[in-house]
Amino acid sequence: MENKVNHLLFRFGNRIFKSYVLVILLLAIVQVVFAGSEKKPIYKNAEAPIEKRIDDLLKRMTIEEKVFQLNQIVLGENDNINNVDADGKIIDPKIGSLLYVGTDPVLRNAMQRKAVEETRLGIPILFGYDVIHGFNTIYPISLAQACSWNPDLVQQACSVAAKEARSSGVDWTFSPMVDVARDGRWGRVSEGYGEDTYTNSVFAVASVKGYQGDDLSNQNNIASCLKHYVGYSASEGGKDYVSTDISRQSLWDTYLPPFEAGINAGAVTVMSAFNTLNGIPASCNQYTLTDILIDKWKFDGFVVSDWNAVVQLIAQGVAADEKEATRMAFQAGVDLDMADELYQKYLPELIESGVVSEKQIDKSVRRILRVKFKLGLFDNPYVSEKNGEGRIVLPEVTSVIEKLTEESMVLLKNENHILPLKEPSTIALIGPMAKDDVNMMGSWAAHGNGNDVVNIYEGLTKEFSDSRILYAKGCNFDRNNTSKYAAAIETAKQADIVVLCLGEKWRWSGENGSRSTLSLPEIQENLLAEIKKVGKPIVLLLSNGRPLDLSRMESECDAIVEMWQPGILGGRAVAGILSGRVNPSGKLAITFPYSTGQIPIYYNKRPSSRPNQGKYQDIQDAPLYEFGYGLSYTTFEYGTLKTSNSKVKKGEEIIIEVPVTNTGNRESAETVHWFISDPVCSIARPQKELKYFEKQIIKAGETKVFRFKVDLEKDFGFVDAEGNKFLESGEYYVMVNSQRVKIEVLD
Ligand code: GLC
Repeated sequence: MENKVNHLLFRFGNRIFKSYVLVILLLAIVQVVFAGSEKKPIYKNAEAPIEKRIDDLLKRMTIEEKVFQLNQIVLGENDNINNVDADGKIIDPKIGSLLYVGTDPVLRNAMQRKAVEETRLGIPILFGYDVIHGFNTIYPISLAQACSWNPDLVQQACSVAAKEARSSGVDWTFSPMVDVARDGRWGRVSEGYGEDTYTNSVFAVASVKGYQGDDLSNQNNIASCLKHYVGYSASEGGKDYVSTDISRQSLWDTYLPPFEAGINAGAVTVMSAFNTLNGIPASCNQYTLTDILIDKWKFDGFVVSDWNAVVQLIAQGVAADEKEATRMAFQAGVDLDMADELYQKYLPELIESGVVSEKQIDKSVRRILRVKFKLGLFDNPYVSEKNGEGRIVLPEVTSVIEKLTEESMVLLKNENHILPLKEPSTIALIGPMAKDDVNMMGSWAAHGNGNDVVNIYEGLTKEFSDSRILYAKGCNFDRNNTSKYAAAIETAKQADIVVLCLGEKWRWSGENGSRSTLSLPEIQENLLAEIKKVGKPIVLLLSNGRPLDLSRMESECDAIVEMWQPGILGGRAVAGILSGRVNPSGKLAITFPYSTGQIPIYYNKRPSSRPNQGKYQDIQDAPLYEFGYGLSYTTFEYGTLKTSNSKVKKGEEIIIEVPVTNTGNRESAETVHWFISDPVCSIARPQKELKYFEKQIIKAGETKVFRFKVDLEKDFGFVDAEGNKFLESGEYYVMVNSQRVKIEVLD
């Protein structure tokens, strides 16, 4: 009996034990699962939708943490008085963004690690920088890029810059600049894509796509920033930072479209400009920052102020003090305050006093967090430190950069086909730009390094290895020291041909680079005049960041090549053009005036009330070189312009085509510019408007057909002063070179 009882007790105890173990196991599993989910809030869940992650994070943030997100200060050391912290030791890691002027991913990651691992919520920092035309591998300035009329190449170059930047820890560039610029006295004309609205729109899209790629969280891509919003380039007299008066009509038909195009291409940030726009500074202009950008265009990225643009509202005469400047900028629509730290200082008390609501704060924080999530910074906050020294010039990119450099240069003159050079035995290479390694990179050359530059002397020496290259500096870029003239003249006497290398210092264009004249300094013009007396043929090479007044120089030269500020491969590209290895295909994206006095001069002006009047009486009316001008080593013959039909109803499309034959003896690329005109419209329109362009390589003797598929609303339509696009019936013309076809648009 006793055994039976023991047996029963054993079995019962065994069962209890097993159930106990089971319950413990289950609890442990629940604990792990629950703990796992409990430890990982939604905002840290990479699988959750971005908007849900933002909702969750916003709920958790304190006011202080939210305000920190709306500020950007400088990390690293640059030549600016606003440096805050060279090595990240004093910056509060709750900061929303840092303008990172370094190239070392280790420093950047160390700062990011503080934000992600040492703050309460671990919100990553967004690192921005001016990657304008390259990061380490510096390629031509934007104005030069536009002269290539090759948006695909520009897109590839921007993706190179993005890859180099991201690998150094920069997630966001303050680029592209898409300010339509028509006054060459303004230094920043070098940073945009010229005088035409459509051109700036096309290259805005190309650069946004190049920087951002298809997936911002891919660590080869960076966020882009459309700037300077808006109307900054209409600065009075070409001076920088001053007031601009732009009619609503011109705002809509000239200055806004490139920003709209960039936003439609997916640009995730916009930078508010320095200028006072029609009396209201662009950095506190409710109409542009909110009514247009947010309400009309539904922009869901964020707006960053330009450097100190918030505090500058005081100087611009609209804010009585810093607190008022803070309120005005923030409430108009500037989300992130760059450099002056006013948001950090005053938003808490503006919220406390109820002037600014937490709801308004949340709107801006949401926009900034959205970009951070899109960049993948929450899920992948660090960059690889494999290139710890922080400097890479991607070798595999040379072909892209070299091609863009070659295609951006413009052959302006080639008297008696002196170019390409025919095996010259001795070349006199003269001028301050001949051996220059710095100014050739232009302004905003990021981390470009002069040692990477192939200068003109190096380029020619390599290209013309069978020729003798004699060098003389001749003069400096400016001042009036003519002591080197004599040696230059002697050098010219010994040569078959003179290649004269002149131009601008990089600081003469770019920000705060306004000049009262487009002429080169007299010391350079006079050097040309002295060399001219020697009687040898002269090829003038120009490296500059703006259109120049060449009226006194043009006649003295047999050939002129506009190199612009070509970046690190400039010497190699221009040598290829001089030798004929490269067939120049660049065409001007900005008018070269006959003289500074002609400014403003641009191709798409509205007609004057007296067609043959409205001109200066003391100089020619035509510019020296017009928009779209550029020579080639071959010749092209345009066939007859044809349209699929000359009458078309709204909603229908027409195709217009023109055959182009390469009548020369060598292959070359030709760009066809398609213009439209609408001679009668309820709002007077420019005499011609570029609406499409296409570049094709055409072999010697070959004919290629260029086609323009006209989208009536987009290509014939116009916009009114309220931003309403419209298409009127009536007569239109499509023009190519000197031909035009009439198209009647019916109701
Ligand atoms: C400058 C420029 C702007 C640049 C910013 C950051 O003042 O106006 O183009 O992106 O500050 O460097």
